[in-house]
Amino acid sequence: MRQVERRRFLSRLWRWGLSLAAAYPFLAFVERRRYRPPKEVRIRRPMAPGDWVVEREFVLFVTSKGAVAVSRHCTHLGCILTFRPEERLFICPCHQSRFHADGRYISGPANGKDLPRFQVRPLEGGGYSVLIPRG
Ligand code: FES
Repeated sequence: MRQVERRRFLSRLWRWGLSLAAAYPFLAFVERRRYRPPKEVRIRRPMAPGDWVVEREFVLFVTSKGAVAVSRHCTHLGCILTFRPEERLFICPCHQSRFHADGRYISGPANGKDLPRFQVRPLEGGGYSVLIPRG
């Protein structure tokens, strides 16, 4: 009697395992499609036109026309770009793609793809909020 119950239990366990394994690709697809709100990074310091700040994911430039946040992720394979303020350039340490400070492509294997810009909002009391979309 106990052996029959054990077999039934193991049989059900096996079926549940197979069902979960079969459903996994669908569940993973749904998870990837789920909306994720953008990540917000706040720069809480007063900045004047001509100032810039380097953050992990972007460089924020303040101009007389407003603030612009340019991504630091290379459009070739995603390496983190180095910003050279003296030349006003982004340079990729991986394969040497180059971009202007406003994100326009100059040269290298990034093959004409400009750097994305992120939405920037001024904060009350000074500073800026940068919204980084999550893929
Ligand atoms: Fe930047 Fe290749 S990852 S040029």
